[in-house]
Amino acid sequence: MLKRFILGVIATLFFALQLPIDSAFAVEIDSVYRTVKVDPQGSMTTLTQEQVERGKRIFGQTCSKCHMAGRSKTNPNVTLSTEDLEGAEPPRNNLVALVDYLENPTTYDGEQDLSEFHPNTNRLDIYPEMRNLTQEDLENVSGYILVAPKVKGVHWGRGKAYD
Ligand code: HEC
Repeated sequence: MLKRFILGVIATLFFALQLPIDSAFAVEIDSVYRTVKVDPQGSMTTLTQEQVERGKRIFGQTCSKCHMAGRSKTNPNVTLSTEDLEGAEPPRNNLVALVDYLENPTTYDGEQDLSEFHPNTNRLDIYPEMRNLTQEDLENVSGYILVAPKVKGVHWGRGKAYD
């Protein structure tokens, strides 16, 4: 009788403690995944969980209507996959280059200005939805773009292969 009662208490405590621990693990992205390239020279930084979550929210509000799952509507050849970002001129697989793209977007070869064709913070007259984005927001959404393919694997930016 007493033994069953004690076992019951242990089981209750076990499940009571287990639940919050499990759900915290479910949403927390591993810090290895949150570690991204800062600049073309290759310095690295580990973003906080909050930065990635904020970036994800901004992406959902402002970018995903064209970049669902890392693809690029209207130009499926220039996706947000790590491979494509890396192959751009200059390479966009780092925070500095991505923030720069959101201020001064250019074609994949870097030759032509796309500021009348892609959302950016220099043409708020054409892209008023970019008005609310602070410098920090641009960094967070860039951070999300670098973290997402590591979390989502092959499901990120595979428009070319599957469309
Ligand atoms: C109206 C549709 C649209 C919206 C909204 C949009 N994009 Fe794009 N984006 C594109 C298209 C199309 C391209 C390919 C441009 C080209 O032809 O080079 C692109 C390219 C990019 C690239 C370059 C990818 C590479 O491989 O070089 C980045 C980075 C990017 N977008 C980030 C963003 C972010 C971040 C947002 C939200 C703040 C955003 N985009 C919102 C359509 C959009």
